Amino acid sequence: MQRVNLGNTGEQVSALCLGSMWMGTATDKAVSWSLLDRFRQAGGNFIDTANCYAWWAGPQFNGDESENVVGEWMQARGAREEVFLATKVGARPRHPQRLWDRDGNADWERAPSEFEYLSPAAIRSAIEGSLRRLHTETIDLYYVHIDDRSTPQEETLYALDCLVQEGKARYVACSNLRTWRLERARGISVARGWAPFVAIQQEYSYFRPRPGADFGVDLHADDELLDYLRANPEVALVAYSPLLKGIYDDPEKRERFYNWHWFNTADNLARLETLSVMARQLGVSNNQLVLAWLLHHPRPQVIPILGASSLAQMEHNLEALSIRLDPGQMETLDRAG
Ligand SMILES: NC(=O)c1ccc[n+]([C@@H]2O[C@H](COP(=O)([O-])OP(=O)(O)OC[C@H]3O[C@@H](n4cnc5c(N)ncnc54)[C@H](OP(=O)(O)O)[C@@H]3O)[C@@H](O)[C@H]2O)c1
Repeated sequence: MQRVNLGNTGEQVSALCLGSMWMGTATDKAVSWSLLDRFRQAGGNFIDTANCYAWWAGPQFNGDESENVVGEWMQARGAREEVFLATKVGARPRHPQRLWDRDGNADWERAPSEFEYLSPAAIRSAIEGSLRRLHTETIDLYYVHIDDRSTPQEETLYALDCLVQEGKARYVACSNLRTWRLERARGISVARGWAPFVAIQQEYSYFRPRPGADFGVDLHADDELLDYLRANPEVALVAYSPLLKGIYDDPEKRERFYNWHWFNTADNLARLETLSVMARQLGVSNNQLVLAWLLHHPRPQVIPILGASSLAQMEHNLEALSIRLDPGQMETLDRAG
């Protein structure tokens, strides 16, 4: 697998990152290990987890599960040295068991009121848990998972810098931040000589959400962020949910997708048409072509995070690495809609 620069850190990470959100919960340990093994065999080294994945998969879970699976796998395979390991702090509920409604559904409306957020004490406690579960002494890329408007950014950023000084994190990054909050955070860190955010992890895919779309604490990379990142290539864009849960080939999956109402627009139907025509010409699936489009995205460069619930999906998605798109094809895809 090709390697790409992570911003201007000098670190080379695999062009695809592997997401582990469902590992240890919806995806059992055996399948999870097969996904991790296959990704490693394909040359992937960039792995993404969080200290809350995936409490919402069931009332028996608390958010330790994904880090536990990744940590045990790295230990068993002796793979820690070759992995560029990312995890996150901030969105872990203090009492996940209180977030289940009477119908047995995870209550996402109330979840933010339970999050640990980003105070220095929360960060300090969270990193110790992550290091323990991941069987490691350092996290390569430590993200704040969400914004926290009630803790002064200075306090969060100083706490993160302390972790870097202590060697518990090598780089810090953010996820689900508005552009102005990212810019402000970087300004503070640079002025104080603290470790600045080197990456932002935001939802990003070929379909564009309808203006005003509200995904709760999740944020989609918007034009303003893309413009900011073009002008600030020292901040890498890591794209989560690049396949929007795998909806590009399957109309029923689109209808079932809980955010489809935010994407069901004339703009995206036109993009789907262009995508489908080109995918047929190239003999690939729409999902594969979306991944290839992201991998060819020149400015800002995008590192998509693969989600796969089976080895077959993983194989299918890895094939996107060998699709070659020329500038004309990229322009056709970019201009659609
Ligand atoms: N920072 C954040 O707030 C945040 C939020 C979300 C995710 N993430 C990270 O990003 C990673 C990926 O996110 P995601 O799972 O939302 O990614 P995604 O690409 O939107 O969705 C992955 C899902 O799409 C389906 N899929 C994958 N490949 C497919 C294929 N070839 N054909 C048909 N369906 C396919 C599978 O669902 P089925 O099982 O239904 O088939 C799979 O679980 C996560 O693991 C996590 O590390 C971060």
